[in-house]
Amino acid sequence: MIKVGVLGATGFTGEKLVDILLSHPKVELSYLGSRTKNKILYSDIFPKFYKKISIKCEPLDIKKAAGVCDLLFLSLPHTVSMQFVPKILKKGKKVIDLSADYRFKKAQLYERLYKKKHQDKQNLKKAVYGLPELFKDKVKGARLLANPGCYPTSIILALYPLLSEKLITGKVVIDSKSAISGSGRKAVIENHYSNVANNFWAYKPFVHQHQPEFTEVLKDKITGSLTFSFLPQVAGFEAGIYSVIHFSCAKKVTKDKLNKIYNKYYRQSPFIRINRKIPKIKDVAGTNFCDIGFAVDKKGFEAVVISSIDNLIKGAAGQAIQNMNLMLGFKETTGLLSL
Ligand SMILES: NC(=O)c1ccc[n+]([C@@H]2O[C@H](COP(=O)([O-])OP(=O)(O)OC[C@H]3O[C@@H](n4cnc5c(N)ncnc54)[C@H](OP(=O)(O)O)[C@@H]3O)[C@@H](O)[C@H]2O)c1
Repeated sequence: MIKVGVLGATGFTGEKLVDILLSHPKVELSYLGSRTKNKILYSDIFPKFYKKISIKCEPLDIKKAAGVCDLLFLSLPHTVSMQFVPKILKKGKKVIDLSADYRFKKAQLYERLYKKKHQDKQNLKKAVYGLPELFKDKVKGARLLANPGCYPTSIILALYPLLSEKLITGKVVIDSKSAISGSGRKAVIENHYSNVANNFWAYKPFVHQHQPEFTEVLKDKITGSLTFSFLPQVAGFEAGIYSVIHFSCAKKVTKDKLNKIYNKYYRQSPFIRINRKIPKIKDVAGTNFCDIGFAVDKKGFEAVVISSIDNLIKGAAGQAIQNMNLMLGFKETTGLLSL
């Protein structure tokens, strides 16, 4: 059994990691780290784990955590992970970071977006962007893995085949809705039930930090004067990202043609489901799947592609475990198909 730990185990993604790792057949959960809940039984924080796990939360003590674990997941806020990563790597252990700290190759871009000096530029260059559907070989060899953001996961997976085939021209409008859990567990007035229930709203128009992230990953596939207009919205449901992407086609397409293209790129991807119907959030909630569907107008020059994931699973914890499986030489789907 490989020993793994989660630092930031009390957060939304940390809790989801614990949940999935507990029934993973090839790893043993050996360290749960929290800044504030030291020496408290994990099942006292989350009663749903009572009689499932009997370990206590420990401090964010890297020496101790890296001493007992072969691989650590960091479910910590941006700008916090980079304080821990170099110490874990120095101990010869692998890291999967769920924050944005290692997602950009250029420190300047990170610093502009996250308003903090990058403290570990050396390892930034070594980090692998963990989208297994596109970068499987690199993921397999990674020691430091930057798990992608939730919006970028849904958007990149939907756009990559179309851009690779040079099928898009002009402006791409990306309308993405995220569940409220996307903003984490901390108490914020705006996330109060009375505001969130039966409500949704747009935020950070034109300035959301995930646009530079997905643009960076797709940049080699972007040709001509293609531009993105990304409008994230937060909605009163518990889990999910639903991206509706509108585009003009560079050449005439049909639904059959799009179906063939997506199948060509994702035939070998166990967590992508190309859908002949329009995807729905509830079909992916609680799973590591990304459902992709599309529609084309009668003339064949306007189309939409829709991609749907669970933000906490394919958009975070599930994808992190998919990456872990590849990094440790396990089958990619281990522990994930039964969700
Ligand atoms: N939520 C999503 O849908 C999602 C999707 C993709 C990626 N992510 C990324 O994953 C990371 C975790 O997100 P989350 O939603 O799980 O956040 P969260 O629910 O707010 O949890 C954050 C965790 O970090 C700890 N923490 C908070 N401030 C800290 C600090 N200054 N120093 C050390 N530990 C601190 C908290 O522990 P204590 O309570 O013990 O302090 C908690 O365990 C973030 O970087 C986020 O952007 C989230």
